[in-house]
Amino acid sequence: MKMTEPATDSAIGRETLQPSQILDRVLVLEMVRVTEYAAIAASRLVGRGDEEAADAAAVTAMRAALNQLAFDGTVVIGEGERDEAPMLYIGEKVGSAQGTGPRIDIALDPLEGTTITAKAGPNAMAVLAIAEEGGLLHAPDVYMDKLAIGPGYAADTVSLKRTPTENIRSLAAAKGVEPSEIIVCVLDRPRHEGLIKELRGLGCGIFLIGDGDVAGVIAVTDPDTTIDIYMGSGGAPEGVLAAAALRCVGGQFQGRLTFRNEDEKSRARKAGITDFDRIYYLEDLAKGDVIFAATGVTDGSLLDGVRRYKTGRITTESVVMRASSGTVRWVKGDRRGDPPLLTQG
Ligand code: FBP
Repeated sequence: MKMTEPATDSAIGRETLQPSQILDRVLVLEMVRVTEYAAIAASRLVGRGDEEAADAAAVTAMRAALNQLAFDGTVVIGEGERDEAPMLYIGEKVGSAQGTGPRIDIALDPLEGTTITAKAGPNAMAVLAIAEEGGLLHAPDVYMDKLAIGPGYAADTVSLKRTPTENIRSLAAAKGVEPSEIIVCVLDRPRHEGLIKELRGLGCGIFLIGDGDVAGVIAVTDPDTTIDIYMGSGGAPEGVLAAAALRCVGGQFQGRLTFRNEDEKSRARKAGITDFDRIYYLEDLAKGDVIFAATGVTDGSLLDGVRRYKTGRITTESVVMRASSGTVRWVKGDRRGDPPLLTQG
């Protein structure tokens, strides 16, 4: 991270830290506040059948929280192009230290799982990843073929260059089990009919999710989920967010953009993408020191959702991870009511 302030003795612990270290340590926890605010705001709309209102509440809260932080931030993955999104659009500057603070790139999804939230389903989250300027792929809003497995496997165990059957057989061999014992997470979509049929033919267990493939990809890194591999296509921006998380906790991820028409290709060109067949690996999507934070909106495989009690008490569960140290922190929030930032008019 770039800093303009000189090195000082740190009040954080008793070590003398370089400015960049001080910033990073402070930012790690500040990121949680940002996702907490978005999740708390969206939680009022859980089960209310209004996707747009839930998303708008999360976006407004996340933007307000980001603008309290002393950095010079740029949204590189956000709510859409400038003409499509009033807030947190791609290119929007956020943070209170424009021109003076550290320059960071931000990938965000204030509400990953708008439909889930509207229907009170599982796995909706507020999600954020930050990196040094230039550290995150500026992914266009198109689909991405995704393949993810947990840590501990050789680099060539699976590949987007191979068929699903070849990948399942190779993963099963590496794990020392039969292909029929492999559990695959797939988004439940008509476009995955062929993939699901192929996997059923091998006898695999298929964990079908209705939405929320950031959580679906991260699930491969958690043995408690029993999910071995993530397969299928979902949003490319969500692919970058999931890759940022895997950079921190380990595991493998590959992504390849897919295009349905010329308009999508021109979006990609605008984002600086020239090789449409390229396979992106973790470091291509999120490089350098990356911080990933998420707060659950509804209960899910990674996080518990926001609880609102009759007394006004609000509890949250968040996770914040850092690639350079591999530290993963689980943060439980317990508030007496909505944060003032969300109640000020
Ligand atoms: P939203 O939060 O924008 O609704 O995205 C939810 C999601 O399920 C993502 O997790 C996933 O990447 C994408 O939608 C899949 O897109 P589609 O619903 O078009 O298949």
